[in-house]
Amino acid sequence: MLAENTLLPARFEHVPLAVFAHSPAASCAAAAEVAGLIRARRGEGRTVVLGLATGSTPVSFYAELVRLHREERLSFTNVITFNLDEYRGLPADHPQSYGWFMRRHLFDHIDLPEPQIHLLDGSVPDAAVDAHCREYEEKIRAAGGIDFQMLGIGRNGHIGFNEPGSARGSRTRLVTLDPLTRRDAAGDFGGEEHTPRCAITMGIGTILEARRIVLMAWGRHKAGPVRAAVEGEITAQVPASFLQEHEHVQFVLDHAAAGALTRYRTPWVAGAREYQGRAWDPRVTRRVAAPASDLH
Ligand code: F6R
Repeated sequence: MLAENTLLPARFEHVPLAVFAHSPAASCAAAAEVAGLIRARRGEGRTVVLGLATGSTPVSFYAELVRLHREERLSFTNVITFNLDEYRGLPADHPQSYGWFMRRHLFDHIDLPEPQIHLLDGSVPDAAVDAHCREYEEKIRAAGGIDFQMLGIGRNGHIGFNEPGSARGSRTRLVTLDPLTRRDAAGDFGGEEHTPRCAITMGIGTILEARRIVLMAWGRHKAGPVRAAVEGEITAQVPASFLQEHEHVQFVLDHAAAGALTRYRTPWVAGAREYQGRAWDPRVTRRVAAPASDLH
């Protein structure tokens, strides 16, 4: 996936990036990669296994996949999906459940056969949660593993619902949500007191086994966690930083989410702009001269 700056020398960056001016273009580029993979596998008579995320980030990505289905005859009949996570306690038909989200934004609009959709069930009884998680992992394995894993990132650096402190080798399991995650979700549930306290999530180890991983992030509220994950040390305190260990990962960002990276924040440290193939312009000069809080 090529975008502005992809070929920059990345002294500070520990994962490859594609930075776009705006999120719709970024979503289209990510969707084009997935569409290419689906079509290539169809040509070989093979299935493709997608790992899917929910939340506000992938909405335009799913809209583009739906458009490709409707207008460019992209078929999903050779696709198998596994969603990353689900709130604990919500049945699949709850309007705030991630299962419901997936139907509204993707599954109801494409030709993906129902048996090829895999969602974690937030409503399994307590005694059955561990078995449910183990079965999910077995189903991923039986499908041949995940070919393409889509991720968002939380403001605390989580991926899936692997909150800070999650282990590198963690597998699909029941987790307690971080207070920041619950605060961010509270608007959807009509207040923090109604927001689930737990969730079931694929583990970091599960995610890292995907053959290709694309993490998308938009907006300046993601700039801090993106910087920590891209430029910081690998630490369980920033679960997305474990992605630095993956051989085929890419972060797809808009300018705002990339705004705290050294290449934008202090470009004279990252290297001469001429060397980066970008000219100095009034906007950059203003950004360089401006306090961080004024970026974008
Ligand atoms: C959701 C998920 C989460 C979100 C993250 C960002 O399936 O796995 O990790 O990707 O919380 O959420 P948004 O996109 O709403 O900012």
